[in-house]
Amino acid sequence: MDEKIQKAVQLIRESNKVIVLTGAGISTESGIPDFRSPETGLWEKIDPMKALSTNILLNNPEQFYALGFKILTSMLDAKPNKSHEILAKMEREGHISTLVTQNIDNLHQKAGSQNVLEVHGHIREGYCLNCHAKLSLEKIKEKVEHKEVPPKCMLCGGIVRPSVVMFGDPLPSCFDQAWNETENADLLIVIGSSLEVGPVNYLAHICKKLIIINLAHTAYDHRAAVCISEKASEVLNKIYQLLKNN
Ligand code: APR
Repeated sequence: MDEKIQKAVQLIRESNKVIVLTGAGISTESGIPDFRSPETGLWEKIDPMKALSTNILLNNPEQFYALGFKILTSMLDAKPNKSHEILAKMEREGHISTLVTQNIDNLHQKAGSQNVLEVHGHIREGYCLNCHAKLSLEKIKEKVEHKEVPPKCMLCGGIVRPSVVMFGDPLPSCFDQAWNETENADLLIVIGSSLEVGPVNYLAHICKKLIIINLAHTAYDHRAAVCISEKASEVLNKIYQLLKNN
């Protein structure tokens, strides 16, 4: 692995602009299951379309708040792990400029990352479909626990939904920014993502240079200058130590 680490550090050093793309695999070491790991992935047990799709959210809110919503609230108390902390330090020390994440768990922000593009939304709050007033996820959770399903807006009585991008939703405008930044960057580092879900996986296609740090193989491994199939925290720790010491 060390030769690959050295190559990765050399690519980071040579790059003026480095973008990182993270997926659920970076949060497994915080106790949040990912979606597609064999045996442990969430979608191994649950049909994503029955859990986190707009169809269920809007047409069967009872089912959504009994299942999919619980996946969201289960992440609220999670703590960032070593990987999140190292990426925040790498941003502070100028090694990475933008962090694009498919994760909704807010762990990059909890670890101190500033320039984060949450292309699949986040679990911090929800909004009213009618007047767009915002509401914390904690408040929405309280309403649901008091059998208010679907939860209603306190200003206009409209239906409130989580600010998470679900299957069937369009991506938020920050994805356009992620696309432009990746096009203009020298290097994209993908960490903990199967790269199975579009259009975010296209970032691994348009980037000039690619590093993949992921336990499982992905369809983009052939494009990567460096591919490391080890645990994110171990790899990032080695990369960071090498960056710091030279
Ligand atoms: N270190 C490195 N890689 C890991 C680790 C780890 N500690 N733990 C898991 N992985 C890898 C797995 O091998 C897997 O390939 O992380 C990858 C996670 O892939 P997915 O579960 O598909 O998660 P992700 O790529 O983020 O999914 C994208 O799919 O369901 C939608 O909206 C959801 O944002 C999600 C999107």
